[in-house]
Order: sequence, then structure tokens, then C-alpha cells
Amino acid sequence: MELADVADDLTEVLLTEVQIHDKIAELARRVEHDYAGERLLLVGVLKGAVMVMADVARELKIHVDMDWMAVSSYGMSTESSGVVRILKDLDSDLTGRHVLIVEDIIDSGLTLSWLRANLASRGPASLEILALLRKPDAVKVAVDVKYIGFDIPNAFVVGYGLDFAEKYRNLRGVAVLAPHVYE
Ligand code: PRP
Repeated sequence: MELADVADDLTEVLLTEVQIHDKIAELARRVEHDYAGERLLLVGVLKGAVMVMADVARELKIHVDMDWMAVSSYGMSTESSGVVRILKDLDSDLTGRHVLIVEDIIDSGLTLSWLRANLASRGPASLEILALLRKPDAVKVAVDVKYIGFDIPNAFVVGYGLDFAEKYRNLRGVAVLAPHVYE
């Protein structure tokens, strides 16, 4: 779905498909360099990270394993609750693995700080984070993120994996949702 297909629901385009693609290519070059000669495990955080995971993995010119976790942070509301629970755990054993968590967005940071601690306790050889988007003005807990795509305003954004009530995930770009949609 194009941003133009739901233009009435959006107030501002933040990132186009091309801008996202170019940034992912840039991040992938760094990842390839940093993990040269290593076997990397990408851990995608469902559901939002599906798009970024698919694009990062295909952009990389090194072998990767892919695994998925589902955690819940804020359900149907627009605010993080800080409550994180595992809905689906990894299939992989992380012992001795080089692990890169792939996320769509860092909002409050609560999900990733919890996830990092949880995965760190499983004995990986290394553990880093790649996040396409970050909202610096929404951060409640600092998270050490090695690969960051874009800093964006603290607005309700949708697209490229990000939803409102499960809609808009399949937008090719990222945009601010119009208040009339969620109020
Ligand atoms: C979103 C996003 C991150 C998290 C970030 O997931 O994908 O996982 O929120 O928020 P935080 O930094 O405030 O913790 P969400 O819980 O909406 O689930 P989803 O990926 O299935 O949409």
C-alpha cells in the first residue's frame, strides 16, 4: 500500500519507501563489516519488525539465521505500559551466538531494554540492536542501540510495520496518523 492510498488518514509523510531503502542499505553495509567472518543470528520482534527484518536480511551479503520473538507492550492503546510479556519465544539457543535484535521502533525504550536484558541472560557471544526508528522525545529508559535508522518526532506514526489497531502495517512508507482516525 502506498502512502497516497490512505492520504486522508495521514497528516505528514515522515519517510518514503526510497528513504527507508537507502537507510537500510547503509545499515546493512555496517553490519556486514562488523560481523565479517561470523555467523549472525537476526532476532526479529513481531509484529512490527517484519518489514525491517525482511529488508535488512535481504540487503545483507552475508549468511544470517533468522528467528522471531513476540512480546506485548502496548496492545491497542497509543502509549507504552511498561508491561512486557513473551507471547512467542525464540526457537534458537543463544549460547555462544552473535545476536542482533531487529526492531522497527524505540518509543519509550521499555520493550528493548527488557528484551536486551532477557536475551543477554541466555549467554550470547555478543548482543546488539538495530532499530529503524527512534523517538528521542519519548524515551523513558536509555537503550544502547548500535544501529539506528532515523530519529523521528514524538507523534503517532504508522507504516512499514507500525500499526494502529493492526492497520497500516503494509504501508510502504512511514507517516503521522491523523488524529481523526484514533480519537
Ligand atoms: C511496538 C514496537 C516495539 C515497541 C516499542 O510494538 O514494535 O516493539 O512497540 O515501544 P517501546 O519502546 O515504548 O517499548 P507493539 O507492542 O506495538 O507490538 P507490534 O510490534 O506487534 O505492533
